[in-house]
Amino acid sequence: MNLATVVLAAGLGTRMKSALPKVLHNVNGKPMVQHVIDSLKQLRSGNNIVVIGPSGSGVKDALAGYPVAFALQKEPKGTGDALKAAARQLKGFSGTLLILSGDTPLISAATLRNLLRLHAKNREDVSIISFIAEGPHSYGRIIREGAKVKAVVEAGDADESQKKINEVNSGIYALESRVLALLGEIRVNKAKGEYYLTDIIGIAVRKGLRIGAHILGNETELTGINTREDLCRAAHYNREKIISKWMESGVSFMDRSSVFIHPDAKIGSDTVIYPNVHIEGGTIIGKGCVLYPNTRIVDSAIGDHAVIKDSTLIESSVVKHRAAVGPFAHVRPGSVIGASAKIGNFVEVKKSVIGAGTKASHLSYLGDAEIGENVNIGAGTITCNYDGKEKHRTLIGADVFIGSDTQIVAPVKIGKGAYVGAGSTITKDVPPLALALSRTVQRHIENWALRKQSQATSKKSRVKEKKLP
Ligand code: UD1
Ligand code: MG
Repeated sequence: MNLATVVLAAGLGTRMKSALPKVLHNVNGKPMVQHVIDSLKQLRSGNNIVVIGPSGSGVKDALAGYPVAFALQKEPKGTGDALKAAARQLKGFSGTLLILSGDTPLISAATLRNLLRLHAKNREDVSIISFIAEGPHSYGRIIREGAKVKAVVEAGDADESQKKINEVNSGIYALESRVLALLGEIRVNKAKGEYYLTDIIGIAVRKGLRIGAHILGNETELTGINTREDLCRAAHYNREKIISKWMESGVSFMDRSSVFIHPDAKIGSDTVIYPNVHIEGGTIIGKGCVLYPNTRIVDSAIGDHAVIKDSTLIESSVVKHRAAVGPFAHVRPGSVIGASAKIGNFVEVKKSVIGAGTKASHLSYLGDAEIGENVNIGAGTITCNYDGKEKHRTLIGADVFIGSDTQIVAPVKIGKGAYVGAGSTITKDVPPLALALSRTVQRHIENWALRKQSQATSKKSRVKEKKLP
């Protein structure tokens, strides 16, 4: 089958009441139009067109790297006019066109394949995916005479008996390229001032073409998003599906209703996920990990058997196997936490490499640092990486011991196996195996407290004496 695909994504999305084009609204952290193209991609058509409007540069950006070309619909004059914009780019194409809406993000590749299979098998000119809609809705109604499809009537134009029809149009069609010639016969809808693509069905029927409508999916999969209510519902369906998929592959959830997982994220088996965990972007979580409550992991890779403790944020970083991060830790972009390393309570790591087995257990800031293996970073250690103008690097060799409350003023290097005494301010390189101490020497004034006490008593008695009459 010679196949081309068209995604209509130029609508204003007025009902969303948003400055953002509708198809860029996220369903579980991923713009709806990306969801659609990800399903479409699996059909391996080499000719994919996305119709965008004049303010569609964001859509182009969201689809950078996807195998699609763009067609411009100059004004949002309806779905029929949007397809016309694509047709101009399809001149000379002969074959089957698969048409989708950018606002129907949960459509699966399997359903699209089913449509194409039936379309070819029944030798139809136009095939529609329909579904049964429950409750009140504004989908176009499929009008049949007996089994034959006669028209699609939009909710706004339907009479009372048509409104009762619950078989509705998903906005997804397969059609033969010759049918595009009928686009010119669509008349503007007076009430809306738009050219409805759905009118092509009635026109094709009158020309004696073969039309089929097939219930190939349910409302969950085929839900169209016009409002924020619809968006929330679709996100819920998608979330349920993603979590079920990971449970099937061996991931445990304490409370599935409070966990958010990006559609592109991956999770290894025997990982346990506590409530309120967010796994965002293309994050990869290894096997046998534990993600404790309130952790958010964005665009990161977490190795096998790592433990991410409560209230921790990890962004664009790598945490290697058996490492422990948190509670209350922040791993900022560009960091690598080595195998079996420990990043503990209230520790912030930025653009730093932390060696295997290294421990920073409490209250530290490690920025622009490269820290070797088996280093002990004492509580309250701060890398002073910023001089007000530029950032500088701190290099700490393997097996170093940094005492608590140390400030390391970068750029500086602490050699392998060196010790830094607690409370030091390190401004010069420390040679390997040395002990660096920069705090002032402690001195004692013997019996100072006793003298202070006796001074205080004699002062008090002087005051009392003065008060005597
Ligand atoms: C459309 C169908 C309706 C179907 C429903 C399924 C029409 C007239 N109606 O209604 O039968 O039940 O989808 O969800 O087709 N678009 C453009 N340019 C435009 C207008 C729209 O590209 O000028 C795009 C939108 O970005 C959207 C898609 O076409 O992705 C559908 O448009 P929308 O306005 O959402 O149509 P519905 O009212 O939902
Ligand atoms: Mg819609």
